[in-house]
Amino acid sequence: MALLEVNNLSKHFVVERSFWDRPTKILKAVNDVSMTIERGETLGLVGESGCGKSTTGRTIMGLYTPTSGEVIFDGEKISGQNKMHKDIQMIFQDPYASLNPRMTVADIIGEPLEIHHLYGSLNEKNRRIYELLSLVGLSREQANRFPHEFSGGQRQRIGIARALACEPKLIICDEPISALDVSIQAQVINLLEELQEYLGLTYLFIAHDLAMVRYISRRVAVMYLGRIVETAQAEDLYENPLHPYTQALLSSIPVPDPQAEKTKQRILLNGELPNPLNPPPGCPFNTRCPYAKDICRKEIPALKNIGNRECACHLI
Ligand SMILES: Nc1ncnc2c1ncn2[C@@H]1O[C@H](COP(=O)(O)OP(=O)(O)O)[C@@H](O)[C@H]1O
Ligand SMILES: [Mg+2]
Repeated sequence: MALLEVNNLSKHFVVERSFWDRPTKILKAVNDVSMTIERGETLGLVGESGCGKSTTGRTIMGLYTPTSGEVIFDGEKISGQNKMHKDIQMIFQDPYASLNPRMTVADIIGEPLEIHHLYGSLNEKNRRIYELLSLVGLSREQANRFPHEFSGGQRQRIGIARALACEPKLIICDEPISALDVSIQAQVINLLEELQEYLGLTYLFIAHDLAMVRYISRRVAVMYLGRIVETAQAEDLYENPLHPYTQALLSSIPVPDPQAEKTKQRILLNGELPNPLNPPPGCPFNTRCPYAKDICRKEIPALKNIGNRECACHLI
């Protein structure tokens, strides 16, 4: 049994209501998204800013109630319970904004222990906080300091320690390295991988470009305008992308070999990401796709199984 199963999940936001409280503008942030994540695996979720990645993560977490579809965690249907699950935690993109500047590191890491009543004595709580600090490579002397005294990478470590406090099974990593210096990104990725192995964690790893998820993900799902357009094993996706959008995303990543770089076929993404308040009819990618045909402007392509991968394109 997979640890996480997401079936046809949609999340629509009402962004405007009439005087009579009727919804007049609906933003369809996530549409018909399905995925499974096996225990101990990392699934990468990639797509441009605004395509619905965070909303997907937050709906899985229980921070948002789904408009439709279901989330099954460890065999139990958790969507519609209207509460967050202790076994699913999140690491956020911005380690500056996500830590309360008025709380000490010990208070930040200890907060989830408190909320979930996970300790018997103060001693036990402190021992757990020190243990969490050492797990993420910080020292117990740093426990009484405040977030502003730390660098970006260290703050992200504090965020990771907080996420680990309840001994979760699944961590939704929402662009955890995007806001960090390139020199620090690899350290945080290495830490996440070590923790995964040591603690048996499962990750949904969200990023806005394919280069960032390449090394950490076993499988990768590509999202466009609220829909998953392709899912495949990481190697297959990078070697042989099927969906024109995946091809375009990949051609923006430089190839280390200069000869290969010269001969590489480039697909440039023309035009802007459509406004999700007013998505094009048919395939969401048709307005930017170099291969779009009539059918692409009329019908939404279903996600089809192709061998051990999935792709939503009329032309494949
Ligand atoms: N709480 C909300 N209310 C209304 N619209 C939202 C809300 N959260 C996100 N959106 C919209 O949903 C779309 C997807 O956003 P998001 O999930 O944050 O994308 P990503 O994480 O891929 O950048 C965007 O158009 C965004 O403006
Ligand atoms: Mg986001």
